[in-house]
Amino acid sequence: MKAEAIFDVRGQVAFITGAASGLGLSMSEAMADNGAHVVMTDIDQANLDIHVARLAERGCSVEGIQLDIGDLDRLRAVINEVAARHGKLDSVFANAGITSGPGFHFPEWRLEVYPSEMWEKVLHINLTSIFVTMQTAAVHMKKQGSGRIIVTASIAGLRSEGNVGYGYIATKAGIINVVRHAAMDLAPYKICVNAIAPGPFLTNIAGGRLHREPEVAKSFAELVPQQRLADPSEIQGLALLLASPASSYITGTVMVIDGGQTAR
Ligand SMILES: NC(=O)c1ccc[n+]([C@@H]2O[C@H](COP(=O)([O-])OP(=O)(O)OC[C@H]3O[C@@H](n4cnc5c(N)ncnc54)[C@H](O)[C@@H]3O)[C@@H](O)[C@H]2O)c1
Repeated sequence: MKAEAIFDVRGQVAFITGAASGLGLSMSEAMADNGAHVVMTDIDQANLDIHVARLAERGCSVEGIQLDIGDLDRLRAVINEVAARHGKLDSVFANAGITSGPGFHFPEWRLEVYPSEMWEKVLHINLTSIFVTMQTAAVHMKKQGSGRIIVTASIAGLRSEGNVGYGYIATKAGIINVVRHAAMDLAPYKICVNAIAPGPFLTNIAGGRLHREPEVAKSFAELVPQQRLADPSEIQGLALLLASPASSYITGTVMVIDGGQTAR
């Protein structure tokens, strides 16, 4: 088979959260540049408008919907509306996520003083909202007997990582096992559910710290055997793989993309 047939996403309706920046934007571009109709959603209306307009200008089929995934009723309503309007939902990228303070190397972020408000906030966005995204998508995908759910987790969900906070570690680990569980649940309906576990990518995560503070970026890069942060475009191959026929027999997995960091 030709590569273009194996990785064919033409005509798909793809729904992506956190699509106005970083990995969500890059995955939106990968899908849209290869012929999918991409529903780009983000809490940040201004950046969403800019990127939807930019992609539309180069001939992509895209639409933008402002959405805070923390508002669970609206999250459900938006997914249902998109599925109803397009008559299907082929791939859903549950990607939006937030950080939860730096790691325990900072005294104010150690276990015994970790702020409970931060814990609650990150659990709601990174775990509950992702769960509801998956749950709502599953209703439509079960009816159509096909679908791909792709969750952006993190290598911080696979082991301890001193650079990030407790809430982040907990939610990324938690969502990885939700992915495995949902993959078993949905396998009879020809729905594949997988997680992506990135290492450090140069995005606007943590309020743009990696761009603003070179020493912070360096401290992350030093942990990577390739000695660098990844460019957001380097996620595109995995996005296409997991949304396309190429991955028809891949479900319940965690795809690590980390420049070798977890192999250490
Ligand atoms: N950048 C990395 O190094 C890295 C590593 C591992 C995992 N991740 C994960 O990748 C995902 C994307 O992060 P990124 O690095 O692209 O960061 P980013 O900040 O560049 O992009 C995240 C996008 O999500 C949006 N967002 C934030 N909260 C939202 C909400 N409540 N509702 C809807 N949209 C919201 C932001 O507006 C932003 O556009 C996250 O789940 C993150 O945890 C990132």
